[in-house]
Parts: sequence; C-alpha cells; structure tokens
Amino acid sequence: MTMAVSPDVDEQQAFDELIAQDARIEPRDWMPEAYRKTLIRQISQHAHSEIIGMQPEGNWITRAPSLKRKAILMAKVQDEAGHGLYLYSAAQTLGITREEMTEQLIDGTAKYSSIFNYPTPTWADMGAIGWLVDGAAIVNQVPLCRCSYGPYGRAMVRVCKEESFHQRQGFEILLALMQGTDAQRAMAQDAVDRWYWPSLMMFGPPDEESPNSARSMAWKIKRFGNDELRQRFVGMLVPQAEVLGVTLPDPELAWDDDAQQWHTSAIDWDEFTEVLSGRGPMNAVRIQNRRTAHEDGAWVREAAAEYARKQALREREVA
Ligand SMILES: [Fe+2]
Ligand SMILES: [Fe+2]
Repeated sequence: MTMAVSPDVDEQQAFDELIAQDARIEPRDWMPEAYRKTLIRQISQHAHSEIIGMQPEGNWITRAPSLKRKAILMAKVQDEAGHGLYLYSAAQTLGITREEMTEQLIDGTAKYSSIFNYPTPTWADMGAIGWLVDGAAIVNQVPLCRCSYGPYGRAMVRVCKEESFHQRQGFEILLALMQGTDAQRAMAQDAVDRWYWPSLMMFGPPDEESPNSARSMAWKIKRFGNDELRQRFVGMLVPQAEVLGVTLPDPELAWDDDAQQWHTSAIDWDEFTEVLSGRGPMNAVRIQNRRTAHEDGAWVREAAAEYARKQALREREVA
C-alpha cells in the first residue's frame, strides 16, 4: 500500500478491503485509530503477561527436583522472556515505546493476565501451569497466528511452537507425579484443583459481557469468541485428564449431547474481577519484583547506551 495521500474515506476503504480479503495490515499501512489502540492494548498486555509469567515458575528453578527438571524449567522460563520481547517489538511497530510500556507495567496501570497472580507453593504447580496455563495459552494463541495485524500474527507462529513444548513438559511433570507415591498423587491433584478454574478464566468473560470482543472479531484480530475457545479447551483437557488420572474439579462437567457442548458449573467471575483489579493473592509481589528488576537493571541499560554511543562515534571517525 502507498503512503497517506488520499482522504480518510479512501484509506478506510482500502483498510476494509484488506480485512475482507484476509490480507495482513502492516505497520506502514493506514489503520483506524481504534484498531491501533486496541492492538497496542492487547499486544502490550500479552507481552506483560509473558514477562510477569516468568515469576511463578522462576520461583522453582533453584528447587527443581533434579538437574534435568531444572534445565527444562530454565529453558521454559527463558522462552517466556523471548515471547515478551517479540511482543514488545510487535507493539512498538504501532507507535508506543518500550519505555512507555515498561512504565505502565511497573506503575501498576497496565493489565496482564490475572492467572499469574496466583502463588506456586509446590513442585506440582509447575506441572499444572504447563498443562493448564500454557494449554489455555495455546488454544487462545493458535487463532492469533492469523491475526490481521502482520507483526502480531507472525510473532504468534513462533510463540505457539514453543507453547506446545511447554504444555507437554507440564503434562509430563504431572504424569510422573501421578505414577509416584500417594503423597505425590495428592500434590498433583491439589495443583490441578487450584489451577483449573483460573485457567478457564483465561479466555475472558462470556461473549455477551465482552463488548470489545465482537469488534475484534470484525477486525479479524480475534477469530473465535471467548466461550467457543473455552469449550475447545475443556474438550482438550477431558481425555488428557483421563490419561493422567487426575479429576477436573467440576462435579457438573459433562458432555451435553443436545447442546453439542460441554456443560460446566458456573465460573466465579467475582474472583476473576478481584484478581484482575489487583486484589489477587500475588499482585503486589509480582509488580514489586518487576519494579526491583527494572531498577537493578538500570546500569545495564546505561552501559548499553554508552557502548552504542561510542560505537557510533568510532564509526564516524573511521568514515
Ligand atoms: Fe509464552
Ligand atoms: Fe508458555
């Protein structure tokens, strides 16, 4: 597409056509302001979630039960850092700076996935997070690979490949525990009990209470509604829970043949709202840790900037 010379009407039309053709919108293309804002919000929240999401698992790196488990967990947590960086870069193409996004995160104004505000008291939490949290992330993110905004969609392709490794490593941790002692089986079940409902909440509120959802679908940022993705996730979990031998903590969970969907108990959205608005068990700790890491890293940023300045100076001298 060429740069903006025609009035907004033509540009809007060109944008609508690209969306209708399932083509990608790229950073230099004209886009409606609301589309840009929606994407900045969604991509930066997603980036923050990846970065904050390193904490609950980082908590277990020094205490993983074997060298092999430690190596796997470290690789996994490092992947999440990488996801955060791809996503911050994608958001930057929309005209927000990395500094602004970091500022919003550490001053507590930016949101991130509420799932990371729950504590991780046992090793089995590493299994439950991989299986349920990364599992929900995959179901959410696979359709985002086809997001109409190019840089976001392309980042998601790589992210999803890594997420499927994360989900399997979580499943495998739980499987090992379920084949262990009674105490280990109880630990695995307890972690599943604690993470199951929060993982269902990761898909967001029901579609009829999520007014932005329809607009995001029209813009082809989102491809499926929250409820449909949640259904898909439950459908994926049921057979896997059977293989593991864990019980999903919902006595009402059953396949409804008439409705052709899973029947589940009502989700406690009050809990979701509480945690999302900053009153979850670990919100303050997560943000404080992030702020401290940012302050502790100031000298690295200064050194990198100084190094870049000297390099540029040297290049100019050579030229
Ligand atoms: Fe991730
Ligand atoms: Fe992950």
